[in-house]
Amino acid sequence: MSIDPGFHDVPRMETLQACRIDIPRPCCLVIFGASGDLTRQKLIPAVYRLFRQKFLPPGFFILGVGRTEMDSERFRELLHGEIPPDCNGDCWYEFAALLHYRTVSYGAPESFRSNIAGVLPPLEQSAGTGGNRIFYLATPPGVYEDIISSLRLAGLAGGSDSSVKIVVEKPFGSDLESARRLNAIILEVFRENQVYRIDHYLAKETVQNILMFRFANSLFEPLWNRRYIDHVQITAAESIGIERRAGYFEQAGVLRDMFQNHMFQLLALTAMEPPSLFTANRVRDEKAKVLQSVRPVPLDRLDEHVVTGQYGRGTVNGMEVKGYREEEGTAPGSSTPTYAALKLWIDNWRWNGVPFYLRSGKRLKSRRTEIAITFRPVPHMMFSRDMSGRIEPNALILRVQPGEGITMEIQAKNPGSRMCLMPVNLDFTYPRDVALSDYERVLLDCMEGDQMLFVREDGVDLSWALLTPVIEALEKFPSARALPDYEAGSEGPAAAAALPARDGRRWRPL
Ligand code: BG6
Repeated sequence: MSIDPGFHDVPRMETLQACRIDIPRPCCLVIFGASGDLTRQKLIPAVYRLFRQKFLPPGFFILGVGRTEMDSERFRELLHGEIPPDCNGDCWYEFAALLHYRTVSYGAPESFRSNIAGVLPPLEQSAGTGGNRIFYLATPPGVYEDIISSLRLAGLAGGSDSSVKIVVEKPFGSDLESARRLNAIILEVFRENQVYRIDHYLAKETVQNILMFRFANSLFEPLWNRRYIDHVQITAAESIGIERRAGYFEQAGVLRDMFQNHMFQLLALTAMEPPSLFTANRVRDEKAKVLQSVRPVPLDRLDEHVVTGQYGRGTVNGMEVKGYREEEGTAPGSSTPTYAALKLWIDNWRWNGVPFYLRSGKRLKSRRTEIAITFRPVPHMMFSRDMSGRIEPNALILRVQPGEGITMEIQAKNPGSRMCLMPVNLDFTYPRDVALSDYERVLLDCMEGDQMLFVREDGVDLSWALLTPVIEALEKFPSARALPDYEAGSEGPAAAAALPARDGRRWRPL
């Protein structure tokens, strides 16, 4: 069944009439960690928005499970209090009727038998979900193994039935070995086509647009290579700090938190070859090839390729904020990096000699995620008799957030009698109201059985294989620079400028 999401109301979107959102088959969503932050802040608001927009299948219901003792009524009250203002609670009570809760102990299969396996069939029968189940792990990763084993022992998983799916949140392991172990545990019980490893960046509207933009326009692909592109900068700058996640972030640091997943996925989408078909496995095959082609960072010349840093006190958006080491739950002398910049090379025909600079950090001057493709300068300066100075090269900026859209920076003649150029922007900005949020998108896709926006086993493996030696080397030989080394509200550590500067380039300002 399909419904038109209403694009016809949006100016200049006439050609999108082909975009349809399919209403998935009836199913139930079993959320582990149902009383936790992720469920309250991300999952339930996203499901509620889908419900309000009538994108959920008929018969859909949620069984929340967790260690916290409570009944379904208390669960509904708890979630009602968390519905964000932009969600508008107008049909909350109708939605609340779809929510159920049971207490389980993750390591105790008998509690799964009585409180999940014993509870689901009558609910499923009256809802008509036909056994379509999604198990969503929204717990800390430390209990994934217990949950998966209890699911198996309680007879809730196993076999190759693609009507049963499992969604696994990040972090997916903390290094190559732990990620492989987790993959092995999951794949002992589920098949790859039942496994949905989330990277919510893939579900952002503009991240999905990278492939559309590249492969649905004949204009750009011929230029998308070493002949025309000078370098690529991928930035995920955040103005927020670690919020209340010190326990996790102290262990993770920015490389595990942002690079292994989001940054490497952006890199893969930017650099991949066109797949012959736009299907989950063909796209993921091409992304895997990019990660296979990334040259391992030379550990004996780490400082030429990696810079990390940590924020100190400062002012962000006019507010005085604490330094990382003063955040609740961090160690006083912590050396956990909150900023990292990485220079990578992709050893293949398309990208040979084109550096990819990646940077991400917390408490930076502004929140900005973008992919900036800088083209080579014009080969000959024929205007040099009339004009001094250099011509800024063209750049194409894929703005992931905020201000989702695309900017093409070009040169044009400045109007007037004198011969001079001025930079101008060709700009496309997405209308705000057409997008599904990232969690709405991943939930819908999972219900539909579309794995395109989820990371396959090899994607996780390859990115950890690249990053683990770098993280281990950085932890073993920490930089001699005193921490903190950048002020909150700044552009990051001064040392990061050296990364592109060594190649005669510079970061785009934040
Ligand atoms: C998460 C990281 O995966 O992504 C967070 O754990 C980070 O540290 C967040 O803040 C950024 O996501 P977004 O969607 O706000 O850019």
